[in-house]
Amino acid sequence: MVFELMRLVIKDASPSSNESFELADIDWEGLGFGLIPTDYMYVMKCDGSGNFTNGKLQQFGNIELSPSAGVLNYGQGLFEGLKAYRKHDGNILLFRPEENALRMRNGAERMCMPSPSIEQFVEAVKDTVLANKRWIPPAGKGSLYIRPLLLGTGAVLGLAPAPEYTFLIYVSPVGNYFKEGVAPIHLIVEHELHRATPGGTGGVKTIGNYAAVLKAQTAAKVRGYSDVLYLDCVEKKYLEEVSSCNIFIVKDNVVSTPAIKGTILPGITRKSIIEVALNEGFQVEERQVAVDELLDADEVFCTGTAVVVSPVGSVTYRGKRVTYVEDGFGAVAQRLYSALTRLQMGLSEDEMNWTVEKGAKRGESRETGLVRVPPVRSSVS
Ligand code: COI
Repeated sequence: MVFELMRLVIKDASPSSNESFELADIDWEGLGFGLIPTDYMYVMKCDGSGNFTNGKLQQFGNIELSPSAGVLNYGQGLFEGLKAYRKHDGNILLFRPEENALRMRNGAERMCMPSPSIEQFVEAVKDTVLANKRWIPPAGKGSLYIRPLLLGTGAVLGLAPAPEYTFLIYVSPVGNYFKEGVAPIHLIVEHELHRATPGGTGGVKTIGNYAAVLKAQTAAKVRGYSDVLYLDCVEKKYLEEVSSCNIFIVKDNVVSTPAIKGTILPGITRKSIIEVALNEGFQVEERQVAVDELLDADEVFCTGTAVVVSPVGSVTYRGKRVTYVEDGFGAVAQRLYSALTRLQMGLSEDEMNWTVEKGAKRGESRETGLVRVPPVRSSVS
């Protein structure tokens, strides 16, 4: 499919802006969470030296790999997820990109991979977002999901770290993650299959962790559930996380979430919600949360980059279903969701200094945020 650059130009109606910005010609009202190919991706390689150099934007498209690449044979790969939002004034906001950079570095250490520096990661994210800025949804219609990958792309046959690595970033405009939208989701607690084990890789964002949940998730969806909540594999009693997000419970206005202890992904939205909740005056506890407490909670909600904050309508455990809300958010989740998303979208003052704002005006130099990229001729469909 060929996309024409600047097909749709909309004029920002906000009084603070007198600039026009271009938008891709897609249905911005109907965004879900599926790949929409955009114009550019970012690619940076690293050989045995451990140094990533020469990162470049290139046209989005397939990549070529040796059948013997470490990532294909032994799963040596990590990914990240973060989002860019378009503000009403046309400027673009990134949310805590350095946290993703840091998490990728921690994961790379566990997976025996070299990783880009924090600065390389953040600059590459900015470059990729700005090169694809016509794909950032209009304010209030969604976000640009940014997917950095770190892959062992060098060829290996015997089990060993790959001799070459590729850092790649692609992006896609997205709306809500769950088909329920912002309506409550319905979870089933899995007590046989486990996502992670102590000493394993559950605490880093390695690709294999996500393949490992597909069996339980697929079975749950067939039965009409939105997703699966996993328990610890030792006592089969304590909450861990949902396939793609972290979990919180609220009881008597105390907000609790399972503590990070190696088997749970340290979500950046999780961390941000904890900080927002503390700021809002809630007591927050990071600790072991037993499944019995889940069943007795006033409210339950999930957090994640893709998911943002998602209210849980019901949980089913060993055939027993507990309902928390029929419709919409519980009061606490609503308050935290509003505080977080207003910050992410630039609707409230960023007292936490979490957002990175970039001017979206055409012709700006790299120093002020824009990179010059070659014109788009075609895009892979
Ligand atoms: C994210 O929330 O960004 C994730 O990486 C989860 C993924 C399964 C969509």
